[in-house]
Amino acid sequence: MNTAITNQLARRLVKAGGEAISGQQVAEEFGISRTAVWKHIKELQEEGYDIRSVKKKGYILSAIPDSLKPEVVQPLLKTTAVGQTISYHETVTSTQIIAHQLAQDGAAGGTAVLAETQTAGRGRLARNWDSAAGKGIWMSIILRPAIIPQRAPQFTLVTAVAVVRAIEEVTGLKPEIKWPNDILLNGKKCTGILTELQADMDQVQALIIGIGLNANQTQEDFNPAVRDIATSLRMEQGKPIERAALVQSIFRHLEKYTDLYIENGFAPLKVLWESYSVTIGKRIRATTARDVLEGLALGITDDGVLQLKTDDGRIHTVYSADIELATR
Ligand code: BTN
Repeated sequence: MNTAITNQLARRLVKAGGEAISGQQVAEEFGISRTAVWKHIKELQEEGYDIRSVKKKGYILSAIPDSLKPEVVQPLLKTTAVGQTISYHETVTSTQIIAHQLAQDGAAGGTAVLAETQTAGRGRLARNWDSAAGKGIWMSIILRPAIIPQRAPQFTLVTAVAVVRAIEEVTGLKPEIKWPNDILLNGKKCTGILTELQADMDQVQALIIGIGLNANQTQEDFNPAVRDIATSLRMEQGKPIERAALVQSIFRHLEKYTDLYIENGFAPLKVLWESYSVTIGKRIRATTARDVLEGLALGITDDGVLQLKTDDGRIHTVYSADIELATR
């Protein structure tokens, strides 16, 4: 069986969005017999595509498989760059590692690496990131904005806004952001963002934006060590979500907010980010690499850095830390 043709047929069916496509037309277009078309349809049905054959009309797709393959994600994608090239894998060490390599080899801005599972998924501060097979969205996106390296942390916040908007659009849930990069639902983490950099002294070559989103885990799928602090969209909305629709929405929002940033700078994104923040205006404890600071989170600077006022009246600039809401 020619898998290139099976994949092309899958794209045609997904693009048709539930409308019938004629077997005769597909046979002519692909230069194969109608029997061969039928065999490819059977192959797709085995992969989880729900396809009916209707007399005199053709083939109708009524459900897609739970997969993040490009032929599922791309046909209805409304972007010009983000997600237009996808490197898809069943298993990888880390999508960040693959994306770094692709960026070094010259991959275009917007290229995305998606995996069903990661054996060495990494989080901020050199932590591990659990990537349950087929349950989440584990992806890294290469962006190539013409900015100086100091501005790179702003993209963690731009990405957080894009992901929050996508979760809202697809699920109707109301996520919040904990500085700098945790997305919470009912106070529990559902998404983490890891921004890494390839840069010269004065110019970013590539941003590698890693997004780990807990989509369809049940509580038992989480490691007992994080069960009390982690959640998934499925647990919060009480039903599974279609991961491909969420990936499309994240791509679209990330492209939209990256364009907004390039045209108007960080200011409009900062306003949006603040509107979702659970950190600003609260008393927090920030554990940095050097010490623990407790005080009032005043806001973020134009560079996306957190400003914290301790009880002695001093204002601290926090570049990287673990944040907890303080109890008093
Ligand atoms: C965090 O610590 O909150 C950030 C977690 C980022 C995890 C994602 S999953 C996809 C990409 N690949 C990785 O190895 N990490 C990021």
